[in-house]
Amino acid sequence: MTDSLPVRVFADRTEASRTLALEVAALVRAINDSGRSAVLGLATGRTPLPFYAELIRLHEQGELSFAQVITFNLDEYLGLAGEHPESYRAFMSRELFDHVDIPAENIHIPDGTVSPEDLSAHCAAYEAAIRNAGGIDFQLLGIGRTGHIGFNEPGSPRDSRTRKVELDPITRQDAAPAFGGLDQVPEHAISMGCGTILEARKIALLAWGKAKATIVREALTGPVTDQVSASFLQEHADATFYLDAEAGSEL
Ligand code: GLP
Repeated sequence: MTDSLPVRVFADRTEASRTLALEVAALVRAINDSGRSAVLGLATGRTPLPFYAELIRLHEQGELSFAQVITFNLDEYLGLAGEHPESYRAFMSRELFDHVDIPAENIHIPDGTVSPEDLSAHCAAYEAAIRNAGGIDFQLLGIGRTGHIGFNEPGSPRDSRTRKVELDPITRQDAAPAFGGLDQVPEHAISMGCGTILEARKIALLAWGKAKATIVREALTGPVTDQVSASFLQEHADATFYLDAEAGSEL
């Protein structure tokens, strides 16, 4: 195993999520105390759910305010409006934003309804907004079965930026139950690129369950390759994998 990429294996996802939520809350407070807003990169999928539940709990206990937090989500399905229940905009409202004190104007998620003519300007504006916010202090990641981070499917270059991407058939299959059938799953998305993600100052990748064990092993111990975009994290100065025992079972 590479010794440059720290791995923390926890008994279960709740313990892992609680630990990370406390660390992120401390980071937000430290950055706010230094006089600026904290910039968080956020992820969707089933994996971050217990983490968001912990952030909400800390907020309710008065230990974490989002009043000076700016967020950038990794990605959004192309063709889905924010009102669609499977849009990442709707997901984030439901699972986090509706329960905390984040100002609406501090939330950034790519717009899935952007027209083809406006797409590249929209992606460039997303990158500019991240830069103008001072860059991402902390980036949360899950991992897809194809090894993707965000929606950076196999073949996504190390220096890719926010752009339109085509979803891998495996990724679409994994999303099919939630959409009520494969034919309902969008074929494209807008995703931050690998280069965008790797510029975050601190990164945590979360993975739970047996189904993620093989791809987690490949990402951590396999070659650094654009065929497994999570493997690029091996070259990041401050990236950590937070695993439950099952996701870490092949290490
Ligand atoms: C989607 C998201 C990824 C996420 C992945 C894994 O592809 N775009 O950000 O990491 O799903 O999803 P899950 O956490 O549900 O396994």
